[in-house]
Amino acid sequence: MIIKVLICLKVSLYMILLSIHIIGAYSSFEKDGVKCRKTEMLALLQFKAKLIDDFGQLSTWGHEEKDCCKWEGVLCHNRTNQVVALDLHGLGLRGKVSSSLLELANLNYLDLGFNDFNESQIPEFVGFLGKLQHLNLNFSNFGGLIPRSLGNLSNLRFLDLSGNWILDTNLDWLSGLQSLEYLDLSTANLHKATTWPQAINKMAALKEIHLQSCELSTNMLNSLPLANASNSLVVLDLPGNALRDILILLRFLNTSSRWRHVDLSFNILQGEIPNAFGNLMSLSYLDLSRNHLVGRIPDALGSVTSLSHLDLSNNDLSGEFPYALGNLTRLSHLDLSNNQLQGEFPRPSSQLKESRIEGNLKLLDLEVLDLSMNKFSGRAPDLSACSSLRWLSLYDNMFNGTLAESIGYLSDIKHLDLGSNHLEGLISEAHLLNLSKLLVLDWSFNTNLTVRIGSFWDPPFQLSRLMLAHCKLGPYFPKWLQNQKQVEFVDISSAEISDTIPHWFWDNVQMCEHLNMSHNQIYGVLPDLSSKLNLLTIDLSFNEFNGSLPLLPQNMNNIYLSGNKFSGTIINFFNFKRLFALDLSNNLFSVEISQDCFMKLMRLFYLNLANNNFFGEIPNSIGFCSLYSLHLENNSFTGYLSRLLKNCSNLIILDLGGNKFTGKIPSWLGDSIPELGVLSLKSNKLYGVLPSSL
Ligand SMILES: *[C@@H]1O[C@H](CO)[C@@H](O)[C@H](O)[C@H]1NC(C)=O
Ligand SMILES: *[C@@H]1O[C@H](CO)[C@@H](O)[C@H](O)[C@H]1NC(C)=O
Ligand SMILES: *[C@@H]1O[C@H](CO)[C@@H](O)[C@H](O)[C@H]1NC(C)=O
Ligand SMILES: *[C@@H]1O[C@H](CO)[C@@H](O)[C@H](O)[C@H]1NC(C)=O
Ligand SMILES: *[C@@H]1O[C@H](CO)[C@@H](O)[C@H](O)[C@H]1NC(C)=O
Ligand SMILES: *[C@@H]1O[C@H](CO)[C@@H](O)[C@H](O)[C@H]1NC(C)=O
Ligand SMILES: *[C@@H]1O[C@H](CO)[C@@H](O)[C@H](O)[C@H]1NC(C)=O
Ligand SMILES: *[C@@H]1O[C@H](CO)[C@@H](O)[C@H](O)[C@H]1NC(C)=O
Ligand SMILES: *[C@@H]1O[C@H](CO)[C@@H](O)[C@H](O)[C@H]1NC(C)=O
Ligand SMILES: *[C@@H]1O[C@H](CO)[C@@H](O)[C@H](O)[C@H]1NC(C)=O
Ligand SMILES: *[C@@H]1O[C@H](CO)[C@@H](O)[C@H](O)[C@H]1NC(C)=O
Ligand SMILES: *[C@@H]1O[C@H](CO)[C@@H](O)[C@H](O)[C@H]1NC(C)=O
Repeated sequence: MIIKVLICLKVSLYMILLSIHIIGAYSSFEKDGVKCRKTEMLALLQFKAKLIDDFGQLSTWGHEEKDCCKWEGVLCHNRTNQVVALDLHGLGLRGKVSSSLLELANLNYLDLGFNDFNESQIPEFVGFLGKLQHLNLNFSNFGGLIPRSLGNLSNLRFLDLSGNWILDTNLDWLSGLQSLEYLDLSTANLHKATTWPQAINKMAALKEIHLQSCELSTNMLNSLPLANASNSLVVLDLPGNALRDILILLRFLNTSSRWRHVDLSFNILQGEIPNAFGNLMSLSYLDLSRNHLVGRIPDALGSVTSLSHLDLSNNDLSGEFPYALGNLTRLSHLDLSNNQLQGEFPRPSSQLKESRIEGNLKLLDLEVLDLSMNKFSGRAPDLSACSSLRWLSLYDNMFNGTLAESIGYLSDIKHLDLGSNHLEGLISEAHLLNLSKLLVLDWSFNTNLTVRIGSFWDPPFQLSRLMLAHCKLGPYFPKWLQNQKQVEFVDISSAEISDTIPHWFWDNVQMCEHLNMSHNQIYGVLPDLSSKLNLLTIDLSFNEFNGSLPLLPQNMNNIYLSGNKFSGTIINFFNFKRLFALDLSNNLFSVEISQDCFMKLMRLFYLNLANNNFFGEIPNSIGFCSLYSLHLENNSFTGYLSRLLKNCSNLIILDLGGNKFTGKIPSWLGDSIPELGVLSLKSNKLYGVLPSSL
């Protein structure tokens, strides 16, 4: 009671003190060195009072510091001391946006982005903050209709409402924003706002429009008045909508040659890329990826000489690489991946050569070149003239012949992927000599490619991903990897290695998540690997490892050790709660499986113990897991087919053949395992008939 009274006293005392201050300094506290205007300070405190500040981000806002110009996120004018900007971006605030902000008569900058307003509507009063020039409410969990009052903000130059759950059915209010230069309504549902093109047509100052994932369709553009379309627009960013008709879009685009940036990716554009794209002479960024475009890449694109970023990936484009694109001297990012392009890829060169293949490309500024997943053929292009190249992927094409050593000159390259081609010949350290920034190296699935790198060569790079599967890497274990200590992904499967694994290798895989050395002739006894805590997948199958199973870290997902000469116990794995797949088939195990061993393997969906000499009854605990595929064939398991097996109702493959199971074939097999596609019970001591439900 007494404490309460004291608090009340204290509060009223404070109020009195405050009032004295208010009377003392009529409109600001300047006399005390406090600049902030009183009315504005109170307005901000009211604003704070309606917010929930979980992280104490507004702790500077309060009675201790009276000068609100010094508060977090508040900016005052340097002469009038009025609050002109409020930037509370990303402070994790919740609660209500109070209309007390209307007191901030000169507020021209408001950013409440990356907070959480619980899907409430954007408050209507925001449209009455008439001085606003910059309004950002992105990713703040606003919902509902966009208030039309925003159309009153005739001074607004920047508006970002992206990343909210808002919607609108009619964007006519936009035409009131006569000063707006930047508009982002991405993720707003504008499915019904069919007249947005007309509205933006009337916005005299608009330069950039971002409408990503707004459920727009090209039908809307059909009605576009073409005569004076696209005022001053230079950036059109419409990825992730339902735009279908590229000709309609082009009619819209072709009304101006000012476009700098056009992103129509992730739509459903159909047909060929029209030649008229060649009229967009100022374009530097064009993204038409992830559509349904067909036909050739038009030569006309070669006349858009300002292009620096061209992404046509993930379409159905065919034909050869248009030589006309060789004129794009500013191109730095070229992604043509996942199409049906064919023929040879010409060699970029600073000199114009006679031959079409040799040096009629001037793409010398390329930093990213992705030709992967096409049907390009002939020699892998010599890109040594592209000295800025950082990212090169030729993965999954039909490039053949030997690889020029000049690839070793690309001293900026980080990602080098030449996998799944028909490359042949010898790779030596010369090919890697200057690649000091290399992180990803993929030469895999070039079966005729021989990698012969000196054992004592110390590479200038530290790889994070090494992929040399299905290359000729052996017969010795690659000793040049001795100093690669940052590897996270290693695949040297099927690489003709017949050697033991040197002990330093196991020290180097401390960061490794994925290790595949399967299908070699690697031999020896594996050490204790339980300290390799990042390891999620290990595949050592089809080698000649012997001795007992290695100890492995408990968080592993996938363990493939089949086709070796492992023996001894398998107890070690039965605590692995995150195990998805375990393959111990084709080894020399000859032990009894204990009854509770599967209890903890709740996520296991693939278990293969086939072709060993495991014995005992199928543990009842096998019924507790979510197995899709169970292989126990060719062991010495005994007993009745456990009734509990029917709890494994996800099974698609069940192979129990070649064991010593006895008794009648259970009638429930067909009913309780509905998806069962493969069932083998052969060579057991079972009797009875297969259930008709199978
Ligand atoms: C006040 O701000 C204006 C720009 O808004 C700036 O040009 C001027 O130098 C500033 N004056 C002082 C005293 O900081
Ligand atoms: C969010 O809004 C819903 C109703 O719209 C309400 O039930 C809920 O309590 C609100 N949550 C918070 C944290 O304000
Ligand atoms: C949200 O706005 C901030 C500026 O306050 C900007 O830096 C950020 O890029 C925007 N976020 C997204 C995802 O557009
Ligand atoms: C602002 O917009 C609303 C419509 O939302 C309108 O009723 C109001 O008159 C406008 N106010 C001003 C000052 O223009
Ligand atoms: C053409 O632009 C002017 C001014 O930019 C605007 O007043 C007019 O409404 C526009 N016409 C159409 C049909 O959009
Ligand atoms: C695009 O504009 C140019 C002139 O700027 C014109 O020659 C061409 O026919 C137009 N193309 C389309 C498809 O409208
Ligand atoms: C490319 O440039 C050359 C001259 O450098 C010119 O002859 C050729 O017509 C240009 N090709 C295209 C498609 O613009
Ligand atoms: C590479 O492929 C082309 C056809 O795509 C063929 O003409 C050429 O002989 C091949 N070269 C080698 C070395 O296999
Ligand atoms: C390799 O790099 C060194 C410096 O790092 C440089 O002097 C040399 O010219 C480069 N060699 C090639 C072939 O690019
Ligand atoms: C590898 O070389 C052999 C013999 O030259 C050839 O038959 C085979 O097609 C080549 N394989 C590939 C993938 O290029
Ligand atoms: C390991 O490599 C082999 C052969 O390249 C492949 O079949 C297998 O799927 C790979 N294992 C894993 C776990 O990716
Ligand atoms: C593993 O095999 C080698 C022969 O390859 C043999 O000398 C060694 O004793 C075996 N080790 C174990 C533990 O079986």
